[in-house]
Amino acid sequence: MSVAKTRCVVLLSGRGTNLAAILKAAQAADYPAMIAGVVANKADAPGLQLARAAGLPVTVVPNANYPDRDSYDAALQVAVDAYAPALVVLAGFMRILTPAFVNHYAGQMINIHPSLLPSFTGLHTHQRALDAGVRIHGCTVHFVTAELDHGPIIAQAAVAVHADDTANTLAARVLAEEHRIYPAAIRWFAEGRLRIAGQQVVLADGLSNNVALIAPRLG
Ligand code: GRF
Repeated sequence: MSVAKTRCVVLLSGRGTNLAAILKAAQAADYPAMIAGVVANKADAPGLQLARAAGLPVTVVPNANYPDRDSYDAALQVAVDAYAPALVVLAGFMRILTPAFVNHYAGQMINIHPSLLPSFTGLHTHQRALDAGVRIHGCTVHFVTAELDHGPIIAQAAVAVHADDTANTLAARVLAEEHRIYPAAIRWFAEGRLRIAGQQVVLADGLSNNVALIAPRLG
């Protein structure tokens, strides 16, 4: 008997390498999630070409067509809901979302952020990590809440900061980890293993898998 896969909608604004990583994971027969559609705020987002090449339905909701955030997010919600998702996956969607939009998908919307939250919320995380002299940097998958980059943390992966790193070399090392933990986090969600307890996320069967996923790659 086949079990229905969890329907995901991916929102993006840019190149779509995380989308590619999720698509690759979703090719496995036992992966419990599928991408029902991709929504972008820019018609020329390179990630859309990738989505089309993979045969995915895409929708563009251009920000220029809407006078304010509320009307934009209302239209975005209609576009996303048309795919009837169980999970909304933000993958480089470069817009601040209204509380109404975030609340509509409470517990059903996740984001990947290129830092070890709660450090370095916002933009230019890799340069800021270098400027701060941190020795460990990384990425975080978290549930989305109204406060930007502050939702309950699902998974993190850490990388060492090298003495000769630039923002670009550090970003590339972090991005490889993003591509590892985002598909894993989506799998956990689809398997029903994530429980939000206050500000924390607890895996239904304990945190051991989380640690096993992340620890061996630090270095
Ligand atoms: C990634 O660095 C992600 O952490 C951030 O936006 C970027 C998206 O990259 N939220 P891509 O479009 O998936 O390549």
